[in-house]
Parts: sequence; structure tokens; C-alpha cells
Amino acid sequence: MKIYDLQTPALLVDAGDLQHNLGVMAEALPDTRLRPHVKAHKTTRLAARQAVLGHRTFTCATIREVEGMAGAGLGDDLLLANEVLDASRLGRVVARGARVTLAVDSDATVEAAAAGGVGEVVVDVNVGLPRCGCPPEDAGRLAELARARGLMVRGVMGYEGHVVGLEDRTKRAEMTEDCMRLLLDAHGDVGGDVVSAGGTGTYDVNTWANEIQAGSYALMDTAYAKLDLPFRNALTLLGTVISVNPAGWAVADCGLKALGMDHGNPSLTDGGVVWFCSDEHVTFSAKDGSPGYLTGQRVRLVPAHIDPTVAYHETMHLVDGEDVLESWPVDLRGW
Ligand SMILES: Cc1ncc(COP(=O)(O)O)c(C=O)c1O
Repeated sequence: MKIYDLQTPALLVDAGDLQHNLGVMAEALPDTRLRPHVKAHKTTRLAARQAVLGHRTFTCATIREVEGMAGAGLGDDLLLANEVLDASRLGRVVARGARVTLAVDSDATVEAAAAGGVGEVVVDVNVGLPRCGCPPEDAGRLAELARARGLMVRGVMGYEGHVVGLEDRTKRAEMTEDCMRLLLDAHGDVGGDVVSAGGTGTYDVNTWANEIQAGSYALMDTAYAKLDLPFRNALTLLGTVISVNPAGWAVADCGLKALGMDHGNPSLTDGGVVWFCSDEHVTFSAKDGSPGYLTGQRVRLVPAHIDPTVAYHETMHLVDGEDVLESWPVDLRGW
């Protein structure tokens, strides 16, 4: 099959660029030093490639991701790095033989883990991002509560999500250190072997955590491409030009229902200029301002934010040039 045979919009993953990204990361953070986050790619076939390169521990953001990974035989050690108040589905995954560890940041989430039959937790510590995570000074108390409820406390996690996208490397490194000092202090109170943190932007500057939860590195996006990272944009969205206006613009069939837009407009791989996206359309012009495009022509766009882009699609196609090598279901979607 050729990419021209695909119904558009369609997600294309360049096989060589994907392999490059997975290989560079596996060399930098081998084995359990990386706990790849599946939230960006949501695809067990891709996770299986990460496993082949030595990563058998994974990070998940949703219960559905945990269930799907376990169902695909990738359940050796799954961390749900997120809070849930009903852990009963996770308990069923554990009962079927997978290892699941759940983040907790409150009495209620500790109780949920115990009631749901998830035997292992990490204390999620807030290290500066105004999102989940307990105040660092509360971490020791929560660990004690968890142990009193019969849970095994494996350690701590703390995601420096407000730092991972900073373009200035020095600032990124300094702020990561500040965050990790908070996490390590909390770890002193909590105990356990696990200090889990980090993302694609901090994978090489976060030298304090003993496992890094990077996920976007596999496919990348234009927001992360602005940083000094050795990873390539492996994913593009294939669209078809459906209208060309002689006044100087063209329109393709992939709009904001096919693209995560919270980090801005996508970029055309041919250097064309994206004007804006609407629900089903992207409007753009050629570099020199002329229409420059023909109706029916295929165009490729790199999304600004990989995670929500992938979550809109049922399938991603692994390609080599114009050849479609494999089509992978994006099977970890949903909740
Ligand atoms: C808890 C957590 N850990 C790690 C990450 C890192 O992901 P990425 O590699 O995309 O920066 C994220 C991303 O949102 C996250 O929510």
C-alpha cells in the first residue's frame, strides 16, 4: 500500500525516524532508567518496540492505558502516574497477573488504592506544576497511612511539567534541580526504591530521579523540536488539498478535530505557511504567497502537540517514504 491510498486525514510515522528516536533514548537511558510514558503514542505496537529495546517498565496516564498495556502482554511493571478515586478496574488488572503501581496524593486516593485491590503505590509529590501531587511536607504522612492500610510504598514521583518545555537549557536544568530537591526531600520521608520524574525535555538534565517518564520523544512535535533535543519529528498528519483559491490560499481536509492545537498551529513539511485551522480545515499558502497547490494534492503537517493529536486518531501508519509498512491501532485511547 502507498500513502496515496490512505483515507485522509491520516497519521504517518516515519519508520526510520521512530527507530532513531527510540534508539537514542535507549542508549541514553537504558532498561529501567526510562519508564516510557505511553500517553503520547497510546499504541501498544509502538510500546512493544520500546520493550524490544530494553524498557519493560511503563508509565500510564489513564486506567484504559493500564488495561491495554497489560492485555498486550506489557504488564511487567506499570505505573499509573495519575490519581484515581475508583481503582477497582486496576485491581482486576492486578488480579490477572500484571504489576500495577498507583500514584496517590491524598487520604482519599490512598483509600481508593486499598479498596480497589492495587497493592502498590508511589506518593505523588507536587514539585511546582499546579496539578496533582501532595505538598512535599505531607509525603511522609501519606506513606505511613498507605503502609497502615497494607499497601507497599515503592517510593515517590514528581513531575516537573512546568519545566520540560523551557527552551533555555540552563534554565531548564536549574529549575529541574529545584524541583528534584523537593522530591528528594520528600523521598527521605517516604522511603522505597523509586524516584520517578521527568519528561522528554528533561530526560538528560534530570540526573536526580532514578527513572524518567519521557513519552513524546518517540514521535515528537514542533513544540519539543524547538528545544536542543536529539529526537526527530517522526509523526506527520497526511491531508488532501480540497480547495485552492486564486486569491492566494489553499485548504486541506485536516483541521482542529485531527490536530492537538493547544500548543499552536501545525507546520507544513514543505515550508508552506499555515494561516489557521478550523474544525475540518487547515488554510495555508505557499512560501512565496502564491496558491502553489493543486486540488487533490497531498500535504503533510507536523503537529504542535503530539499527545492530543494522536488521541484523535484510530490508526497510525508506519511508513518508509511512500510505502505503508504497517498500520497500528491506536488502541490505548479512551478512559
Ligand atoms: C506525569 C507525567 N510524567 C511524564 C510526562 C512526560 O511526557 P513528555 O515526554 O511528553 O514530556 C508527562 C506528560 O504530560 C506526565 O503527565
